[in-house]
This record gives sequence, structure tokens and C-alpha cells, in this order.
Amino acid sequence: MDIQITKANKSRLGELDFNNLPFGKYVTDHMLEVDYADGEWKTAAIRPYQPLYLAPSLAALHYGQSIFEGIKAYKDSNGNPFIFRPYDNFSRFNISAARMRMPEVPEEIFIEGMRRLVDLDRDWIPMKNDYSLYIRPFMFATDEVIGVKASDSYKFMILLSPTGPYYSAPMRIYVEETYTRAAPGGIGYVKAAGNYGSSMQVTAEAKEKGYDQVLWMDAFEHKYVQEIGTMNVFFIVGDKALTPGLEAGTILNGVTRSSAIEVLKEEGYTVEERPIHIDEIIAAYKDGELTEIFGTGTAATISMIKELAYKGNTLTFNTENSKAAPAVKRILTEIREGKRADTRGWMFPV
Ligand code: COI
Repeated sequence: MDIQITKANKSRLGELDFNNLPFGKYVTDHMLEVDYADGEWKTAAIRPYQPLYLAPSLAALHYGQSIFEGIKAYKDSNGNPFIFRPYDNFSRFNISAARMRMPEVPEEIFIEGMRRLVDLDRDWIPMKNDYSLYIRPFMFATDEVIGVKASDSYKFMILLSPTGPYYSAPMRIYVEETYTRAAPGGIGYVKAAGNYGSSMQVTAEAKEKGYDQVLWMDAFEHKYVQEIGTMNVFFIVGDKALTPGLEAGTILNGVTRSSAIEVLKEEGYTVEERPIHIDEIIAAYKDGELTEIFGTGTAATISMIKELAYKGNTLTFNTENSKAAPAVKRILTEIREGKRADTRGWMFPV
């Protein structure tokens, strides 16, 4: 693929403290940028990371045609760079694009553009446990008009951010029964900027109550669990792993979710993807059968939950005794570090 490459005169890599990388705070030297106009994708460019010059009437700023993805690159123990399951994010990105009436991004731009960018900034990939290079592809509407309609022009970009863990400690979760994230027919399955915008107030209120995140419930009855903050959710009940199914289109089809499902099956758990009523969870806890709750996400990887608050019930977990979440985390880490055979072709070499 033809990519115009302009390299940074001076790398900022030397300014980075690889032992202190809060999630998303730093970006690498370069970014990828491609415009869509007149019904076609123009020539891709990789250039030094820099501000954009945009019109105040930019459609994305007013009506939210804006989607993104989250992917991670690692180095194996020999220092070879790999990207984890980029094709899964590529296909989800274009599912998001279709629902938001945005153009599909061709594979060569998304995958090959990403590969070339990561290759150029490969020295920014951390090699520390729980650290990675977070890849942020995104697309937004660029028509300059204050009329409500699908834009005719778009910008697709990729940024890279060397990063440490998203949540560093087990979390306290509040079951949210007032606000909802998504309803059937809506955009719950879409990685749309607006889904995150509408969560800010809700998360802030949960934080004021002393919690880290909310567990979203279904929009009709507020009884069926959906997802936690920016993660999919799993419940370990006996030898079963329960996670909400994707059929209602209200939760994200997480790549880490699907990886966790495969690893859990391999570890002997029976995985059930289906509607999960909160009363079933409370009853399983009271019976002593519910031993773990954890979240999965690209940014968060596997995050253990130490407390879940629902009405008068506080479910607490000693995460030191957790088995499933640490096993999934360990196995995924071993695959990423090249210490375990990548039998499913999840690691895409840069
Ligand atoms: C991810 O897990 O990649 C996410 O998109 C979550 C978040 C940082 C928005």
C-alpha cells in the first residue's frame, strides 16, 4: 500500500519513563491519517504526532458520528513486536461504521496502516508485565455543515500510546438501576464515542458513592446484567462461567471477552453466554456458589472485582482466592510473551 511517510525530526522517546505510564497519557512520535471524500479513501499518511486543524462546524463535533477501537501491541520475550487479534477489531470497527452510517475502512488501510505505524514506533512498545502499546484507531465525520445528515467526508486516524495497567487494584462496583447504557435497537454493540460520553455522569456519581465503576443493567427491567464500565463481565458460579450474551445487541462484542471464553473452556469451565438476572447472581452468592466476578477489556485486560453493591446486598470477594481470572490473565500473558503456543493465530507479527 502507498503510504506517505514523514518522520519526526527528533524522537520524544527519551522523555518517557517506562516505569510510569498512566493509561493513555503519552502518545508516540507518529500518527496515521487518511481522509475519505468524493466516495473514496485518499492516500494514507504517517506523519509526526501533531494537532489537527478543524472547522468549528465539523459534523462530528455536533452530531457524534465518531467511532473508535482499542487494540494492543506487545513484544515477545525475544523483543519481536506483535499485535493482538487486530482482525477482530477491524471487523468490529466496520460493524460500528455501518451502524453509524460511516464508510467502511479497507483492510489495507486499517491493518497495513497499523502495522506500518507500529513498526515505525516499535521502540515505544513497553516490555514490562501488564504494560503494552495501546493502539487507538478512530474515525469521525468531517463535513463542515450544521445540518443533521450523514457526513460525506471522514477522517480515519491511528494513534499509539505506551501504557501501563488501566485499573491497578481489584474494583468496587455499583449496580446501576436508574441510568442505562443501551437498549435493543440502539448502539450498545457499537464502539461509538457517544456511548462513553453518556457514561461520564453515571460513573462520576458512582465514584462519589465510593465505587470504581457501575454494572449496567438492561433498559426495560433493570434486572439483567449488561457490562461493567468499559468492560464485559464474567461470573464464576461453581464450574460455570456466566457472561451476558450478545443477542440483544446492547453490549460490546469484546475481543478480550471472546479470548477469555476460549481460555475458560480450555481450563475446564462450562461457559454460558445468555441473559443473566441479578437475582440469580445474588442467590448464587448466598449459596456460596458465586466465587468470582471479573471484567474483561482491551484497556483493562482482566480486572478482578472485590465488591458488588446491589440494593441492600454487598457481595464481597477475597480476590486472593480467585482462580479463573488469574488463570485467564496468566494464559493470555503467556501467549502474548510467546511463552505459550499461539494455537489460534491471535498474535499478528509486525
Ligand atoms: C478498551 O478497552 O480498549 C476500551 O475501549 C476502553 C476504554 C479505554 C474506552
